[in-house]
Amino acid sequence: MKSDELIKNIQSGTFHVCVIGIGRIGLPTALSFANSGLPTTGLDINPDLVNSINSKNFPLKDEPGYDVIFEKVIKNGKFHATTKIEECVPNSDIILLSLPTPMDEKNIPDYSTLRSVGKQLHKILKPGSLVIVESTVEPGFIENDLIKIIEGDENHLVAGKDFGIGVCPETANPGQILNDFERLPRLVGAIDEKTSNIITKIYHHVFTVDLIPMPNCKTANAVKLTTNVFRDINIAFVNELALLFEKVGIDIMKVLEAAKTKYNFQVHYPGAGVGGPCLPVNSYQLLNLSKNMGMNSLKIVEIARKINENMPEHVINLLVECFKESGKSLIGSNILILGISYKPDVKDLQLTPAEPIIKKLQNLKTNIRIYDPYFKNEKVFGLKTESELVKALVDIDAIILITSHKEFHDLEPTFLKSSIRTPIVIDSPCVIDQHAAKKAGLIYRGIGRGHD
Ligand SMILES: NC(=O)c1ccc[n+]([C@@H]2O[C@H](COP(=O)([O-])OP(=O)(O)OC[C@H]3O[C@@H](n4cnc5c(N)ncnc54)[C@H](O)[C@@H]3O)[C@@H](O)[C@H]2O)c1
Repeated sequence: MKSDELIKNIQSGTFHVCVIGIGRIGLPTALSFANSGLPTTGLDINPDLVNSINSKNFPLKDEPGYDVIFEKVIKNGKFHATTKIEECVPNSDIILLSLPTPMDEKNIPDYSTLRSVGKQLHKILKPGSLVIVESTVEPGFIENDLIKIIEGDENHLVAGKDFGIGVCPETANPGQILNDFERLPRLVGAIDEKTSNIITKIYHHVFTVDLIPMPNCKTANAVKLTTNVFRDINIAFVNELALLFEKVGIDIMKVLEAAKTKYNFQVHYPGAGVGGPCLPVNSYQLLNLSKNMGMNSLKIVEIARKINENMPEHVINLLVECFKESGKSLIGSNILILGISYKPDVKDLQLTPAEPIIKKLQNLKTNIRIYDPYFKNEKVFGLKTESELVKALVDIDAIILITSHKEFHDLEPTFLKSSIRTPIVIDSPCVIDQHAAKKAGLIYRGIGRGHD
C-alpha cells in the first residue's frame, strides 16, 4: 500500500470511499466522509433504502443536522447509493464496514454479514485499498476471522501487503450522531502501525475529534465493549436497587438524584429493560469471548443480563398489582403502551423491551393500543399504532409508559385521570411526579418508586 499516494489523494479529494451498510450509523458516516469532499458511495442490500436515498429522501428523520448535509452532498454529487458491490468496491480506495452484528435467538453473536461481505471483498478488492471496520465485534474477530476470510485460501491477497485493515469502532448515540461525531474521541486500531497512521490521517480529514491510537484491532474492540458492558452492569445494579426500594418504601429517583452529587458516582437509571443494537449484544459478545477462551468467566455480566431481561416481567407484576388495587379484571382490559422505541427520541425498535411486554400482555388476554410519536399509523408487532394521544386514551384501563420520549415529559396526572376509564399508570422511566399522580387519583407505580 502506497501511503504517500493515499495521503495526497485525501487532500486532493480524488480518493474514493465506499461505506458498506448505510443504516443508522453507516449513513451518517458516509455523509460525513462525503461532506469532507471525498467522493463517497453508500452500498446497501436494501433496494428501498438505496432508491429512497437516490430519490433525495433522507431516511433518518430523527438525526438532527444530517438532513442538511444530505441535501448538500447529494446536490454536489459527492454522495450516492447503490446495491451493486461489484461496481463500488473495485473503484474505491477505502472500504468502511458498518454492517449489523446482532445475535441469534440463543444470544450467540452473529457475524455472518461481515463474513459474507468479507468473502465478496476477497474477490473484488482493488490492490492497495484499505478496509476499516466500524461495526462492533468481539476482540480477536478481525485478526482470527475477517482477515483470513478476505485473504482467502489461495494466498493471492495478503493483509498488510496487498490491502490494509483496521478498526474504528463506532460509539455515537442514535438521535445525536452528528453531535457525537463532533465531540467523542475515536479509537483507531490496525494490523500495523503504518495502517493505523493512515486511518488516523483519513479520520482527521473527516472529523475534528481526537483519535486515540490503540496497539491493535482487538484492543480497540475491547475498549468499545468495556464501555458498553460497564453500562449494562450498572443499569442492572440500579434495576435491582429499584426492586428492593419499592418494597422498602424508598423512591429510587430521590436516591439517584442525591447520589450523583458525589464526585465519583456515575448515575444510571432503572427502566423497563435494556434494548438497542449495542448494550445487550455487547454483553453477549464479551460472554462469548470468555466462553471461546474456555474460561466461563464474567459471571457479573451474565447476572446483569438476567436482571435487565427480567424487567419487562416486573412491569407486568406492577400492572397486576394495580389491577388488584382497582378491583378490576386484567383480562379483556384496554391497555395503552406509551413509547415503544428502545430509547427516548429515536425511531428504533431493536431489542426494545416493549416487545416482550406486549407479548406478555397478549398472553394475558388484554387489548393493546400503542402510541409512540415516532411510530404513528404504522404496523408494529402486528398492531396498528395510534396517530393521536388524546384519541388513544379513550376507554383505556391502564397506561404503561415504556420510553421517555420528550413528548411524555409533560404528561399531567390530572389530564390522564380525566382521559382514561380506569386510572392505572405504570411509569417505567419515572417521568411523572408520583405525589401529583396520587393527588390526582391515579393508581400509580413507577419502577423503583417505593411509596410510604
Ligand atoms: N445503532 C447504534 O446505536 C450503534 C452505535 C454504535 C455502534 N453500532 C454498531 O454499528 C454497526 C451497524 O449498526 P447499525 O445500527 O447502523 O445497523 P443498521 O441495521 O441500522 O444498519 C445496517 C445496514 O446494513 C445493511 N446490510 C445488511 N447486510 C448487508 C450486506 N450484506 N451488504 C450491504 N449492506 C447490508 C442493512 O440493510 C442496513 O441498512 C453494528 O455493528 C452496531 O453494533 C451501532
